[in-house]
Amino acid sequence: MIAGISKITFPMIQEPRGNLSFIENSTHIPYDIKRVYYLYDVPAGSARGGHAHHELKQTLIALSGSFEVHLDNGTAQETVTLNRPYEGLLVDTLVWRTIDNFSSGSVCLVLASDIYREEEYIRDYCKFLATVKA
Ligand code: TYD
Repeated sequence: MIAGISKITFPMIQEPRGNLSFIENSTHIPYDIKRVYYLYDVPAGSARGGHAHHELKQTLIALSGSFEVHLDNGTAQETVTLNRPYEGLLVDTLVWRTIDNFSSGSVCLVLASDIYREEEYIRDYCKFLATVKA
């Protein structure tokens, strides 16, 4: 994987009556989770993201269905398909991400290291490249 991203496999308790996965703050996530948000009812053909963060770290999980995460750390690019509820994609600071190809009914859960602060977003790709190279 390119620098700035990694995969996390969460525990899965498999039983005939169904599967159960769990995520513990300090055990499975390398930062304190301060916010949880989720993307759902994403229309076919829609794209989310299109930004990077100065300070925020996030873990993306396909709780249901599948989608593609396109990642760019300023020097290398990679596309990761998420489709397993027991897998997380950890995205560090200064990684540009776009999410698309949402399957019908998919849910993208995001575990974030801080509350929402628009001022720490980088929404301009040229500014992102300049920040990474600085
Ligand atoms: P944005 O982060 O651009 O969404 P995405 O990256 O998923 O495409 O946020 C979309 C809008 O929602 C924007 O107006 C900011 C707002 N927002 C909040 O108010 N709180 C949040 O926790 C998040 C993630 C977004």
